[in-house]
Amino acid sequence: MKGIVLAGGIGSRLNPLTRVTNKHLLPVYDKPMIFYPLQTLVDAGVRDILIVTGGQNAGDFLRLLQNGKELGLQQLSFAYQEGEAGIADALRLAEPFAKGDRISVVLGDNIIEGDVSAAAASFMQQEKGAMVMLKEVPDPERFGVPVIENGRIVRIEEKPKNPQSPFAVIGIYFYDASVFDRIRELKPSGRGEYEITDINNSYIADGTLRHSLLEGWWTDAGTFESLWHASNKVREKVLRKAQEPAMVRNV
Ligand code: DAU
Repeated sequence: MKGIVLAGGIGSRLNPLTRVTNKHLLPVYDKPMIFYPLQTLVDAGVRDILIVTGGQNAGDFLRLLQNGKELGLQQLSFAYQEGEAGIADALRLAEPFAKGDRISVVLGDNIIEGDVSAAAASFMQQEKGAMVMLKEVPDPERFGVPVIENGRIVRIEEKPKNPQSPFAVIGIYFYDASVFDRIRELKPSGRGEYEITDINNSYIADGTLRHSLLEGWWTDAGTFESLWHASNKVREKVLRKAQEPAMVRNV
C-alpha cells in the first residue's frame, strides 16, 4: 500500500503563524507537524509516500525531509496543489503516484498517540472499497460526523450544527483505486471545496465503506487551541517514554 500526506491549504485559522510558512512546518512540541502524519504511515508499514503541498513554502519540505531516509522511507515524492480547493482536490494529484494501488491518506495536521497498523491490515483483507476511522470527541461539530444505524455508518455529515453521534471521522483514510474516479464526479460543496466527506459518502452509497475505532488519543492541529493541545499531548507522550527505562531499572 502507498501513502499520501495532504499538506496543502493556507492554514488561515492559524494566521499570522502561517503568513510566512506552511502550517505543516510549524512545531508540535519537538518536531515539525509534518513528521507526525509521516510517522503514522511508517508505523503502518508504508514506505513509499507522496506529500501533496502548495503555497510559497513548498521547497522547505524538501529541505526538511530530503529523501525521507531519516524516517525510514524507500521513496519520498512531492506534488504541488495550485490553490486550496479542498482535501479531495489535493488527493486528486496523487493518481499518477498511486498507479492503481490501494492508498492510505493522512491529513497533514492529524496526530495520533498509537498506530493504525491493525486497521491497515484489516483494510488489505477487504475485497474493495474504503475504510475510515472514528474517534469519540467532545466537539464533533468541528469535524466530519458519522450517522450510525445498527452499527453501520449510513451517512457522514461535514461539520453539522447538530451532530448525530459523538464521533469524528478522523483524517486517516484507506481507499481502493476507485477513489480517483469518484473525485472526478465531485462537485464543490457550499463552502466551495471538494470534500473528502463526499468521497466517503459515495463509498457508503455503494455499501463498501467500513470503519474502525481508533485507540489512544487523536487530535488535529489546525487551530490555536488544537495546536497547543497537540503539543501538550506529544510532550506527555515523549516524557512518558523517557521515563520508561528508569521505571524498568527501578523494578
Ligand atoms: O481532522 C479531521 C477533519 O479534517 C475531518 O473530520 C473532516 O471531515 C475533514 O473535512 C477535515 O476537516 P478540516 O476543516 O479540519 O480540514 P482542513 O481544511 O483543516 O484541512 C485538513 C488538512 O487537509 C490540512 O492540514 C491540509 C489538507 N488540505 C486541506 C485543504 C483545504 C490540503 O492538502 N489541501 C486543501 O485544499
